[in-house]
Amino acid sequence: MTALPPLDHIPADILSAADYEQRAADHIAPPTLAWLAGGSGDEHTLRANRSAFHDLRIVPRLLTDFSKACTRVHLLGTPLGHPILLAPLGHQRLLHADGETACARAAAATGCGFVCSTLSSLSLEDIAAATDEPKWFQLYFQPRRNDTLALLRRAEAAGYRAIVVTLDTPVQPLSRRAQRAGFRFPGDTPANLAAFAPPLQVALEPGQSIVLHGMMSEAPHWDDLAWLIEQSRLPIVAKGVSHPDDARRLRDLGVAGQIVSNHGGRALDGSPSTLSRLPVLRAALGQAYPLLVDGGVRSGTDIFKALAWGADAVLVGRLQGYALALVGALGVAHMLKLLRDELELCMAQAGTPTLADITADCLVGDVTC
Ligand SMILES: Cc1cc2nc3c(=O)[nH]c(=O)nc-3n(C[C@H](O)[C@H](O)[C@H](O)COP(=O)(O)O)c2cc1C
Repeated sequence: MTALPPLDHIPADILSAADYEQRAADHIAPPTLAWLAGGSGDEHTLRANRSAFHDLRIVPRLLTDFSKACTRVHLLGTPLGHPILLAPLGHQRLLHADGETACARAAAATGCGFVCSTLSSLSLEDIAAATDEPKWFQLYFQPRRNDTLALLRRAEAAGYRAIVVTLDTPVQPLSRRAQRAGFRFPGDTPANLAAFAPPLQVALEPGQSIVLHGMMSEAPHWDDLAWLIEQSRLPIVAKGVSHPDDARRLRDLGVAGQIVSNHGGRALDGSPSTLSRLPVLRAALGQAYPLLVDGGVRSGTDIFKALAWGADAVLVGRLQGYALALVGALGVAHMLKLLRDELELCMAQAGTPTLADITADCLVGDVTC
């Protein structure tokens, strides 16, 4: 089955940000849809990320004064109109010809943040040039330090404001869903990596494991991160944190902010939902430390719950992909506006005029992991 082309208007039946998921399905080739939607292993963590949000309920409060209402937030020197960022999502031209520039423009138009992936279809420079608004760059450690350093220097030169280093996927096989659907990555190397020599072949001794001695030999260690922090002129944000001991060690090493993330259920299957880890990590890091979360965010109500549970802001992954595939930049901007409207409606009914008012006291229930 071939995919329908993207639309040039927002369909009238999209009434919520979450509607983009179902509505976009016919506009994405089935193997690409399986790659976008799927999670690792048996998809336990993919499902847990979503169900955790259903475990919490918001208690409405009455007669609150909203004359000083505000949703603005400052994260590591980046001002945002709303506590929402587009998560780094690689290979966006698989979803729409405009790729990442469409999402960067949509984020800029709606006062939301944008994080450019190392694996972006377009070059980090072209994406940076798409808007004047502040953006962050997501960095994957490369097998050679010089290549990692080259990416860092290019991101600095292009004007990115922070480096998001993703740490939770030392190995990442293609999901079974994507494999069964026959998904293949495009043959060409992602734009940002095109100048790098191919990775060195690891020679395994007889009896050694392809995963443990082969793939893991290229995975970064704590000293690589310490080196990166030393090299960087920009604040470093660690993405993929779940354990409080890691969180404290990252903070003590000089990491300026952290993202509670399990790669949207695409890393270790069977790991806990990100929402269930938030209070633990907030307690470990203290109230003032910048802490973001992603995984399973599909509505403004979800954002409210994440903020109440300890996050300063959320990132949105798959919804961005669905909106991009359906209506390009216009769709992503509309999806972000819907998320914003849903969050504001929720704040109005919960009696919380500012983000600081959104606390755990607003919620009942507990999150099963
Ligand atoms: C298709 C796809 C591609 C992704 N590419 C990247 C990437 O290049 N770098 C990265 O750090 N995370 C990547 N992620 C993870 C997202 O940044 C984010 O953590 C996750 O999608 C959040 O969950 P959600 O999709 O439920 O919102 C990707 C996720 C998806 C679904």
